[in-house]
Order: sequence, then C-alpha cells, then structure tokens
Amino acid sequence: MAQEDVFKKVVSHCKEYGFVFPSSDIYDGLGAVYDYGQNGVELKNNIKQYWWQSMVLMHENIVGIDSCIFMHPTIWKASGHVDAFNDPLIDNRDSKKRYRADVLIEDQIAKYDEKIEKEVAKAKKRFGDSFNEEQYRSTSPRVLEETQKRDALHERYQKAMNENNLEALRQIILDEGVVCPISGTRNWTEVRQFNLMFKTEMGSTAEGASTIYLRPETAQGIFVNYLNVQKTGRMKIPFGIAQIGKAFRNEIVARQFIFRMREFEQMEMQFFIKPGTELDWFAQWKATRMAWHQNLGFGAENYRFHDHDKLAHYANAATDIEFRMPFGFKEVEGIHSRTNFDLSQHEKFSGKSIKYFDPDTNESYTPYVIETSIGVDRMFLSIMCHSYQEEQLENGETRVVLRLPAALAPVKLAVFPLTKKDGLPEKARSIINDLKFHFNCQYEEKDTIGKRYRRQDAIGTPYCVTVDHQTLEDNTVTLRFRDTMEQTRVKVEDLCPMIEKEVTITSLLKKLP
Ligand code: GAP
Repeated sequence: MAQEDVFKKVVSHCKEYGFVFPSSDIYDGLGAVYDYGQNGVELKNNIKQYWWQSMVLMHENIVGIDSCIFMHPTIWKASGHVDAFNDPLIDNRDSKKRYRADVLIEDQIAKYDEKIEKEVAKAKKRFGDSFNEEQYRSTSPRVLEETQKRDALHERYQKAMNENNLEALRQIILDEGVVCPISGTRNWTEVRQFNLMFKTEMGSTAEGASTIYLRPETAQGIFVNYLNVQKTGRMKIPFGIAQIGKAFRNEIVARQFIFRMREFEQMEMQFFIKPGTELDWFAQWKATRMAWHQNLGFGAENYRFHDHDKLAHYANAATDIEFRMPFGFKEVEGIHSRTNFDLSQHEKFSGKSIKYFDPDTNESYTPYVIETSIGVDRMFLSIMCHSYQEEQLENGETRVVLRLPAALAPVKLAVFPLTKKDGLPEKARSIINDLKFHFNCQYEEKDTIGKRYRRQDAIGTPYCVTVDHQTLEDNTVTLRFRDTMEQTRVKVEDLCPMIEKEVTITSLLKKLP
C-alpha cells in the first residue's frame, strides 16, 4: 500500500473506531483541534503512563509536578516567547493561502532527498545482490547532482534562518520555483513574522483585565517551580522535574491530522545539572530517550536523530528524535541543552535568586538544564501509523489489525460468550468481574465470534477469550492471540497470570535497558 494511502486509512480508522474525532464534529470541526474517543483516551493514557513511570518511577532523582496553563504574563517575556516565538509566514496572492516559509523550503529539501532515494532504489532493483549502495551514492552522476543541489539549498536555508533574514527566505522560495499547491502559481508576498501564542484576558472588567497567554510549552511551569521543588523536596543536583500537560500554539500551517495541532499535550522533563557537565548529560539523555522509543519494538531503522542546524541563542546542543511516519521522518521529541538561560532570565525578571548551593563543593551557581520534550499526540500518531496493518488471510479475506504493543492497547482482553443463553453470558461476566481489577476487559456478545474477533483486532486488543459449553463443565476457555490468530485452551484461573505479565506498563519498563 502506498504510504499516502496508509496515512489516509489511519485517519479514517481513528474516527471509525473511537480513537480520534475532529473537535466540535457536529459543527463541522475546528481547525487543527481534535478530541480523543473511548479507545483513544485509553491508548493516550497508557503512553503517558509509560513516559511518567519511566521518568518518575525509574529515577529516584526525578519528581513530577502539575503546573497551571495560566501563568504570570512576565514569564513569557522572560522566556523570550513574547518577542521571539514566531513563525516566518508567506502568502500566495492568488490562492490567498498562508504558508510557513521555512516549511516550504524544508519540503523542497525533502524533494531532493526523495529523488536521491528513488535513484538508489531503482539501481538496487537493477543490480540485485551485486549492488554496492555506498559506491553508487558516491559515483552516480545523477545522485551526485541531486545531492549537491540539496546541500547547497540546505546551506543557504540554514544561513537565512540563523541570520533571521526574511528576504533571503523569500528569495530561496522564488529561486527554487516553489509553487502554491492550490493556485499552482509563484505569486508570493513578503515573508513576515507571526507570534504563535494565544492571548486571553484575566479579570472582570475591561479596564482592570490583564492580557495573559495560554502556555505554548509546559517547560516554563517547571522553571518557575524549580526553587519550590528543590527546597521542599531537598533535591540535590543533578535532579529532574517532569510534567505532562496541555500546550497551545496558534499554528498557521496546521496539517497532517494530529501531527501539528493548536491544542496539544507535551511530556517534558527538565534535568538540572552543574555547569560544564551539560554535554555529557546531553549524550546520556539522547541515549536514554532513544532506548525508550525503541523499546516499543517498532524497529531501530524507523528512528533517527536529527541534530539542529539552527541552535537557539541560549542552547549549546539540540537534537530531534524522528520517527518514520507515512509522510517521511518527522520529529516526535526534542532534546535540548538549554544552558542556564531560562533560570537566569527568571532570576532577572522576578528579582529572586535562583542559585543552587552545592554542599559538596561549597559553590553557588545557576544550574544548567537538559530538556527532553515529547508530544503525546505525535507519539500517538506514530504508534497508530506503525501498528495499522491490512492482512490478506488464507481464506481470501482481509483483516485490519492494530498491532499495538500489548501494554499500550486500550483493551487487553475481550470476553465473548459463544451464545447469549445457557448461562454463558453469566459465566463470561464472572470472568470479567475477576479480571477487571487487573487490566481493561471488554464484554461482547453480538454477532458471530469471527466478527467479534475482527472488531477487537481493529482496536488492537491482544487477547480474546470465548466461553462455551465446555467452560461450564471444566472451567476452561479458548484463548485467541491477536497477532498469530492462534487459539489454545486454558484454565480460567490461568488467564490472569498469563495475560497480566504481558499487558502492564511494568512489563514494558522491565524491558528498558
Ligand atoms: N519546551 C520545548 C518545546 O516545546 P518544541 O520542539 O517546540 O520544544 C516539543 O516541542 C515537542 O512538542 C515536539 O517534539 C512535538 O512532539 C510536540 N509539538 C510541538 N508543537 C506541536 C503541535 N503544534 N502539535 C502537536 N505536537 C507538537
């Protein structure tokens, strides 16, 4: 199946099976805002638990907080968001459509990459086993030409972004002949900066009200609570503070479903360290976070690091963890070495000392920070895209199956009575009544067993149990496995120990290196 089709199918599957709905659906939706349905919320909660427990439970020097969405407006002045949290925008005069200039250029760079990969794939097919990919990439005139064009564009783009040169960005778009996908023309306006923060007012009267912002990241809630947590928790550096919460950005180019939303959720951890140790900690957190992703078993080849070309003025290292989505490798998580920028700024703007006194060295300093920041919704999307599969069965039928990691699946076990009579529903319910304290179970009695299996496959339920007349005699049931579709007869009392060890978040955490 073409990757574009996979993505379309995932989007409609999400709606059809209660994972993700457009927000305000009966009013035709609201741009780039989505709600999670009955299965989506379970999967999302499991992702959050996997992250939270891997941070807070597995590290004795990381604690959590839950700070508010509304914060003192000066925070956003101090953090630089009021002045610099901008996207460079460009309009097409014919279609009246607005685009991010940086995204148009990045898409253009990706087109060169696609051409190169196509050339390599064609040659691989032509030469078969004798193909030497490395040699081909370094000698094929076509590949070399496209690589040279891509690198030159990349360098120009990097320079324009680093210098914040909006005219240079526009010139690249003109020189590359980028056309508007709607109008097909190159009739572009100037590039302008646009601030991404949503504003609202706090206070009862128009005169007395003050402008406040919906937080565009959860990180600042951690920074402004640094002292509270360090003092009350008697935390010694190095230590971390983790938080999960909503963030809001007035994204202009909101596209690709839940990949770029206006209201989304972040899982962020700020790790406070001694100045001078930041590059070691940066390397360590890169490895830890990559291992967390790869632990889901989707294959190491589907992840890569993308080091930032343009470092924010306060950062001395930054990388993204990218996942292979159906629309290419895309950022899911950012890892940033933010120096002491944020704490120093809050010290300056609040007038309060945020120094740490190190009892081991008798020194005082403003801690440096390594940040790990991951979007829950992007993680959700990557998991859905990777897990969605259409399988051709031996009998000619097609089954849609979500091969979710069992620990993340919304429902762990579905229990079906073979028929609606003879005491089978009562027996099925009594099994659920015992197991529901251990994991999420679902009861289903409608339709044939085959149809019920298909419905559970489509929401990723790893185990199904059928209760039949034999169950009433010997207390055994048929246990069916989602991935292999194999069935086996097991004792009811063995279900809990068999299934629980596979479906808990603990089972996933135990596999972490
Ligand atoms: N505190 C640092 C920070 O916010 P970021 O790279 O802007 O860094 C971190 O965002 C993560 O948040 C991204 O890697 C992405 O997963 C998620 N994210 C950012 N903007 C998003 C959006 N508009 N929709 C969904 N997720 C988003």
